[in-house]
Amino acid sequence: MTGKTLTIAIDGPAGAGKGTLARRLADHYRLNLLDTGLTYRAVAHALLQYGLPLDNVAAAETAARQVNLGELDRTVLSAHAVGEAASKVAVIPTVRRILVEKQRAFASTPPGAVLDGRDIGTVVCPEARIKLYVTARADVRARRRLAEIEAMGGQAEFETILADIEGRDARDMGREDSPLRPAPDAHLLDTSEMAIETAFLAAKSIIDGVLQPRNTA
Ligand code: C5P
Repeated sequence: MTGKTLTIAIDGPAGAGKGTLARRLADHYRLNLLDTGLTYRAVAHALLQYGLPLDNVAAAETAARQVNLGELDRTVLSAHAVGEAASKVAVIPTVRRILVEKQRAFASTPPGAVLDGRDIGTVVCPEARIKLYVTARADVRARRRLAEIEAMGGQAEFETILADIEGRDARDMGREDSPLRPAPDAHLLDTSEMAIETAFLAAKSIIDGVLQPRNTA
């Protein structure tokens, strides 16, 4: 972004490993970290809590204005159902505009940030110095999501999770406002066959290649 801040934009579909990768990179490069999915989840969670329909635009806008980036509670917001609901409120353009403004302010705070989401490289921070598009096959992502649910003591059917993931991909990639797609200048990282450490090393090597001036001697 500016000379003073560094932005690492990470986009990709649900379950591709963006979150863990973003955390590792923020630690390594000593940057702030924002999981922008939590902002859409917070809006969805507020509507669910009040029993309001997810297409209630006025209520969703109010909830979006009330989102405080410092108070996003991952434990409450990480539920699978909240993620599903988030992708429904995420189609509302005014909700996106309100949240994107907060996300941009976060990104421009020194020393900069790693932001992960769906539209970071394309809409939120199109001037980000580094853009990664992290993906993985849908069956691999469903298996990872199932393992997360089971690790937290929950239960789910693989087929149900796979169908949810495919439905979410279709909503996120097919919406009119800010659809999920790689920015033209994004580096693609397919983590289908990668453990997290391998994905981290691959991302680090891409980033170091951008940050370190080339030896042209
Ligand atoms: O990444 P996560 O699963 O937490 O995101 C939940 C939903 O929020 C996504 O499926 C997507 O619809 C929406 N989202 C978005 N733009 C972002 C981050 C998330 O539309 N930058």
